[in-house]
Amino acid sequence: LKYLHKLIRLVRNVYIDLKTTGHFLGGTVATKHPHLGVTAIGSTDYSLMPALFGATLRADDVFVDVGCGKGRVLCWLVHKGYTNQLIGVELDPEISARTRLHLKKHSNISIISGNIFDNLPANATFFYLYNPFNEEIAKAFKQALESSYLPQGRTIRVLYYYSHCVKLFKDDPRWSIHEFSIGFQKEATLLTLNH
Ligand SMILES: C[S@@+](CC[C@H](N)C(=O)[O-])C[C@H]1O[C@@H](n2cnc3c(N)ncnc32)[C@H](O)[C@@H]1O
Repeated sequence: LKYLHKLIRLVRNVYIDLKTTGHFLGGTVATKHPHLGVTAIGSTDYSLMPALFGATLRADDVFVDVGCGKGRVLCWLVHKGYTNQLIGVELDPEISARTRLHLKKHSNISIISGNIFDNLPANATFFYLYNPFNEEIAKAFKQALESSYLPQGRTIRVLYYYSHCVKLFKDDPRWSIHEFSIGFQKEATLLTLNH
């Protein structure tokens, strides 16, 4: 049964990858930036995405995948028919160039090569994070969101999966926190920065 599940998962992954990019996007790549507090480049599993985004992402959101890696989150969103402006920012220049090439047929997707700290899209409303960085960098990211978006007087939301740095947000009254289950023993957190 375990092997059947694995096989079904592989078939689904290959199907969505090929349909949206023409390439298989599986596997994990070691990061070249461990000194920047960066984790390995693995993808969010497609099976978790309905629970992650189904009830959180709104039609008028400008979506940013912080550290988009090979782009599977963006693939899933176009596969499901989301027409939002979708932005992936990826630090690793080779990965981001390849992801841009793979996703170029989708006119609502843009891939930015570089560090999220230098590339916070001004019109962003919704950020997705799958464990891109360690606690020190997560703290700096929280501060960067506050200093970029609070002066604009806009509410932004951050969906944090694998949210082991969520405690940073808990003691700050500017942020509201909604933790929810996305599957067996898997939690995600939706953080809202209220202006
Ligand atoms: C665990 S992967 C997640 C990939 C993708 N978001 C997903 O869920 O499938 C984290 C990615 O974040 C990238 N990353 C880490 N720090 C970054 C930063 N400061 N700016 C942009 N990308 C970053 C890494 O290179 C890596 O590709």
